[in-house]
Amino acid sequence: MNHILKCHEIVKTDFVRGENCHLYDSQGKRYVDLESGIWATVLGHGHPRINQVIRSQIEKVIHLGTRYPSILAEEAATNFLDIVGIDGGKCVFLSSGSEAVEFAVQTARRTTQKPLILTFSNSYLAAYGSAGSKSTDEWWLFNGNICVDPDQSECLKGIPFDNIGAFVFEPGGSGSGFVKFPPKQLVLDIAQRIKQEGGLIVANEVTTGMGRTGKWFGFQHYDIQPDIVAAGKGLGNGYPVSAVAMRSDIATVLEDSGFHYAQSHQNDPLGCAVAKEVIATLGEENWIDLGNIVGDFFLDGLKRLVEKYVVLKEARGRGLLLGLEFHSHERISVEWIYHALLEQGFLVGYYPAGNVLRFDPPLTVEKEDITYLLDCIDSILENAG
Ligand SMILES: Cc1ncc(COP(=O)(O)O)c(C=O)c1O
Repeated sequence: MNHILKCHEIVKTDFVRGENCHLYDSQGKRYVDLESGIWATVLGHGHPRINQVIRSQIEKVIHLGTRYPSILAEEAATNFLDIVGIDGGKCVFLSSGSEAVEFAVQTARRTTQKPLILTFSNSYLAAYGSAGSKSTDEWWLFNGNICVDPDQSECLKGIPFDNIGAFVFEPGGSGSGFVKFPPKQLVLDIAQRIKQEGGLIVANEVTTGMGRTGKWFGFQHYDIQPDIVAAGKGLGNGYPVSAVAMRSDIATVLEDSGFHYAQSHQNDPLGCAVAKEVIATLGEENWIDLGNIVGDFFLDGLKRLVEKYVVLKEARGRGLLLGLEFHSHERISVEWIYHALLEQGFLVGYYPAGNVLRFDPPLTVEKEDITYLLDCIDSILENAG
């Protein structure tokens, strides 16, 4: 990898083939991908229906100019609006999660004309743009951890709700890296205050969307209906397509404001065909419920490990977004465990800032792979003393 720019840690591997939850390197070694690429392959690598749609669509048309959205874009929008619960709304399809979140933020700013956007201080929203920089002249960064008792809204004092255009809420908690789900009452209190002052609720479902947390979307654990929803990653099952859905009245204000946004791959037929098929496959093949069953099994297994090893602090999860938090230890770090698991043929996430190992496998993962992983963690910790 001499010519690949190092933007973060690069692990030397040579994956040449993927099949559901398994990746194979050029030597034929099998790895279990418990990170879904990077939260993306909710239906596993090479799902036959998704591959078939890609093959079929590239024979027709891949890309059209931004002036010419196809019937596929309309159909994908209808289906996406249906699952996010925004009746009669409007959608745009883009390429990445960062783009979708940034677009959602721009929409909220433009339509509410309020200067600030509220989000939890440790949330990850985008790689660039206003949502990437979260500069304090545009953002109000709120440390939800100060709310010791989430049932009282004392801790919200000081937030200038009247100046806030939107609450950008990421239901997996802090870029999903910590796997710490924000307390429900806190989210409800913030949402209520925002709405009272004419602001909008934006759900950032880039990681939590498409069934990851056991429901179509993470916000559905919170009994709130967002005004705008941004999704990416799982929406394309690894193909780069993202989406922003919004209420029709917001869309009208935006359109009437003369808002202009054009990027080359907006509403591309190939991306829309993939998004449409991912939604259909998840629904028709019942993967969200099936993933939930494996998720419960996985969480139980992690909890048993926590009971057995003092170095383990907590196991937590929703659906197939799970975290295993470690106590600080002089030898056993999450990075060390990550490399030990990689050696054994597992790809997992790890987040040193939270001392957390993260698991977000495809919803199609089998219990057998989870059992094998739990046994490996068990023996690694046993041998570590
Ligand atoms: C919570 C969250 N939002 C947004 C993004 C940005 O998505 P993308 O990397 O596809 O631009 C990420 C990426 O990891 C994310 O974790």
